[in-house]
Amino acid sequence: MRKCLLLAAVAVLALATACDDGSIKYEVEHTPTMGMSFWNAFQLNINEDLVKDQADAVVELGLADVGYKFINIDDGFQQPRDSAGNFQYNAELFPNGMRAVADYIHSLGLKAGIYTDAGDNTCGSENKYPYGLGTGMYGHEKEDCKLFFDEWDYDFIKIDFCGGQHAGLNEKDQYIKIGKAIKACDKKDIIFNVCRWRYPGTWVEDVATSWRTTYDIRPWFSRIKYIIEENLWLQAYTRNGHYNDCDMLEIGSQWPGSDAKLSHIEELTHMAYWCITSSPLIMGCDMRKVDSASLAVMMNKDLIAMNQDKLGLGAPVVQREGNVYVVAKDMEAIMGPKRAMVAMNLGEYPVQINVSVEALGFKGPIHLYDCYKHEDVEDYAPMTSFPLYLEPHGSAAFFVTGKRIEKTRYQAEESYMNHFCTLEGVFGPKYLTTESADLGMFVMGLGEKPDNWMEWNNVYSRKGGDYVATVRYAAMDTCGFTISVNGDTIKNVEGLYTGSACTSWDTANVKIKLKKGLNTIRLGRAKGPMCTVDYMDIKREEK
Ligand code: GLA
Repeated sequence: MRKCLLLAAVAVLALATACDDGSIKYEVEHTPTMGMSFWNAFQLNINEDLVKDQADAVVELGLADVGYKFINIDDGFQQPRDSAGNFQYNAELFPNGMRAVADYIHSLGLKAGIYTDAGDNTCGSENKYPYGLGTGMYGHEKEDCKLFFDEWDYDFIKIDFCGGQHAGLNEKDQYIKIGKAIKACDKKDIIFNVCRWRYPGTWVEDVATSWRTTYDIRPWFSRIKYIIEENLWLQAYTRNGHYNDCDMLEIGSQWPGSDAKLSHIEELTHMAYWCITSSPLIMGCDMRKVDSASLAVMMNKDLIAMNQDKLGLGAPVVQREGNVYVVAKDMEAIMGPKRAMVAMNLGEYPVQINVSVEALGFKGPIHLYDCYKHEDVEDYAPMTSFPLYLEPHGSAAFFVTGKRIEKTRYQAEESYMNHFCTLEGVFGPKYLTTESADLGMFVMGLGEKPDNWMEWNNVYSRKGGDYVATVRYAAMDTCGFTISVNGDTIKNVEGLYTGSACTSWDTANVKIKLKKGLNTIRLGRAKGPMCTVDYMDIKREEK
C-alpha cells in the first residue's frame, strides 16, 4: 500500500500529501460542474413546467445519481426591469416565481442555476427577442446578486457578454466587479461561469469557477472539432479547481428545426474529450426524448470518473499524427501510477496509430483499461507502443497504469502564459502552429516586460538534483530569455538568432537544480523580445 505524508497547503485550498512512491495527492475544492441547461434544446422557449419536468427526468433517468446535479435555467425567463430598475422575471412563463422553481429543484436533491449578462442586454434579446433588453447586470450588480442568490436561492450563475459588448465594457473590470458582488452575498459556494466565448485572460481564474473558451456548440462534428482544437493549448489554464468550459454537451441533441445530430462515434469522442479535459458536463438535450444510446454515453461511469478526478487537471497533447491527437493527464495523484488517455481522430479518413508508452509517461509494460467497453484490455502488455485503429471522428479512451517515468519534454503549448488571452484584437503571447515545431505547436509574443512570461509549474523530479534544461527556440531578430527555477533567476541567455521566428530552430542549454517533487520553471525577458519557444527538455545531468 502507498503511504502518504502531509505536505504544506497548496494553492488549491487543499492539503497535499507526498506518497512514498514519489507521487503527490491533493483534492480540489470543486470538480467540474455537472448538470443540464435548457439552451441547446429549447433556446428561449422555457417555462416553469418545462423546468420542473426536465428536473424530474434527470432524477428518473438516474442522471442525478451519476453526478448531474445542476438544473440551469438559461436565457428566456426575464422581463424588462421596472421603472425603479428592479429585475423582473416573466410571470406568465413562471407564474410561481423563480424562488419556487429553485425550491422545487432543491426538493429533488438537485442544485439550481440561473443566467444573466455582464452588460445591459442578454444574448437572446439581441437576436430580436426584446424581453431581455436592459435585464443584464450592468449597473445592478449588487442588487441582482442579492436577488438571485439570497432571495431566490440559486447555486450557479452563467454570465454572458453580448450586452457587455453592446455597452462597450471591459470584460475584466466588469466580471471582477460581479465576482465581488457574488462574494458579498450571504449565500456562499456559488458556482460562477463566465461566458465570453474566448479565453479572456488569466484574471478569470480568480473570479470564476469556469469560463467558456469558444463560440456556441452545435450538434455537428466540425463544431466539436473546432472546440477541441481551440482547447488543446488551453490545458495549463484549467487548474486549482477552475476550469475551461468547452460548452454544453450536444449528446442526444438535435439542432432545433433540422435533423443535424452527432453519430454515436462522434458522441463518444465529444464526451471523452470533455471528460479528460475536465470541462463542465452540462447536458443540452431534451431529457424526455434522449435515446438509450446517448444516455449511456452521458452516463459512462469511467469517463465521468475521468472528469470528476480530484486533481482537476487539463490534458495536454502527448502525441500527434496529423489530425490524430493523443491527450493524457494524471489521475488520483500527480506522478502516481494511474493516468487517463484519449486518442481522437478529428480527420475524415480511418487511421491506425502506434501510441508511444513513453509519450504517455510510462516505462512499459503498462496495463490498459478500456473506458468505452468498461473492461481490461486483455492479452498483451505494451512495452514501447500499442496500435489503435480509429474511425473518422472516432476515439479510444483508456485508464493506463504502470511504472511512471520522469517527463523529459515540456511542450511550449503546455505552458501557462501570464498575459495570455484570446479576445479579438489583443496583442501579446500566442500559441501558434507550424509543421516544423514538435507536435506542430509553439509560442511567441513573450518578453518586453518583466511579467510577460511562460511557465511550467509541473516540472517533476523524483529525487531532485542537477539537470540540464534545453530550450528549443527560434528568432528572426536577436533575442534571448531569462530562465528561473522556483522563483530564482538562473541565467539570462542572450544573443540568440536563427533567421526565422518559426521555421528555423536551434537549442540553448542551461544547467539547473531541481528540488524533489514539483518545480516551477519560468522563461521570460524583462527587456527586449523573448525568443519563440517550441519546447524545453529537462534531463538529469550525467556525472
Ligand atoms: C450565448 C451563449 C449561449 C446561450 C445564449 C443565450 O450565445 O453562448 O450558451 O446562453 O447566449 O442567449
